[in-house]
Amino acid sequence: EKGGFEHFMLKEIMEQPRTFRDCLRGRLKAEEAYIKLGGIRDYIDEIISAKRILIIACGTSYHAGLVAKYLFEDLCGIPTDIDFASEFRYRKVVITERTVVLGISQSGETADTIVALEKAKKKGAKVLGICNVVGSSIARLTDAGVYTHVGVEIGVASTKAFTGQLAIIYMMALLIAKEKGSLEYEKYRHLVEEFDQIPDKIEQTLKNTYTAVEQISAACRTASSMIYLGRGLNYPIALEGALKLKEITYIHAEGYPAAEMKHGPIALIDENMFVVFIAPKDKTYEKIVSNIQEVKSRGGKVVALVTEGDKTIAKMADYTIEIPETDKIFTPVLNIIPLQMLSYQVAKLRECNIDQPRNLAKSVTVE
Ligand code: F6R
Repeated sequence: EKGGFEHFMLKEIMEQPRTFRDCLRGRLKAEEAYIKLGGIRDYIDEIISAKRILIIACGTSYHAGLVAKYLFEDLCGIPTDIDFASEFRYRKVVITERTVVLGISQSGETADTIVALEKAKKKGAKVLGICNVVGSSIARLTDAGVYTHVGVEIGVASTKAFTGQLAIIYMMALLIAKEKGSLEYEKYRHLVEEFDQIPDKIEQTLKNTYTAVEQISAACRTASSMIYLGRGLNYPIALEGALKLKEITYIHAEGYPAAEMKHGPIALIDENMFVVFIAPKDKTYEKIVSNIQEVKSRGGKVVALVTEGDKTIAKMADYTIEIPETDKIFTPVLNIIPLQMLSYQVAKLRECNIDQPRNLAKSVTVE
């Protein structure tokens, strides 16, 4: 059932070009610049006129939610907040009118997320969901929702479910932006066309980054700690990259917004510290370049994820991973791919139990 792969995690990483495509099937037609999300069709007006979107999730699903926050504000102009389910659940929360709540959960069975969404519902919010497991508790308790349709995920470390969640989030944001008129039609059309290329680009990313990731894995297999830095839409990817490393390799890792480094974590930098920078060509590129210099000048080892052909950072970094070019808003989807693979490779070199990491369960149905 591992389809010839050594671990479910590897199979699930490699499957992503297909699972991402499955997610788009029947929902996105690039030639007609058409996006349809049947599950939330009846709620589109409510979403468009929402005064606030509130996202609730845990773990990797929370990281997908953080990407959604940036997108809903950037493309749709809707104020968006995000909360850990466990925090929302035990706090006095203020739900103002016309708040739409979005719960994100692969399993649909995470105890904290279930209770948090029930609480939001009781307080009068419309509750939407993004789940992978059909008919799961969260899928049933939400007013409406969209399935990721990436198939069963067996590896404890979430990979294809995360990119599936991103796929749905991008389609939601583009659809809302179009309906709301917050995005010019031509720009919308261009983004839909670009988005349609993502499954192919995930495939290219898997192929093109394999060798670099292998070399980096060998270099950092004995590290005791690593830092992942990104900005904007790639800040959640820094968090997710660090989480993947922690959970299956047991190397301590922290994700940070790159500019926060100088507010504390920079004290950790010495010649033993590996720092992974997510540095696509976008509006914060120059800023990231100076963040890289700050690490280099303190002797840190820099691993940089760059846009294909980037020479500037390649010259500064100890290791580079080249990522195919895409519109800057879609870079998170491609950037997470080599970071998943890096964790996998390092875990393999460290002979960890990849599909069943210690102390972890696939779905957290207890508090
Ligand atoms: C990390 C991981 C966990 C889950 C979290 C939420 O790889 O798998 O962090 O993302 O437990 O689970 P779901 O999405 O099922 O609610």
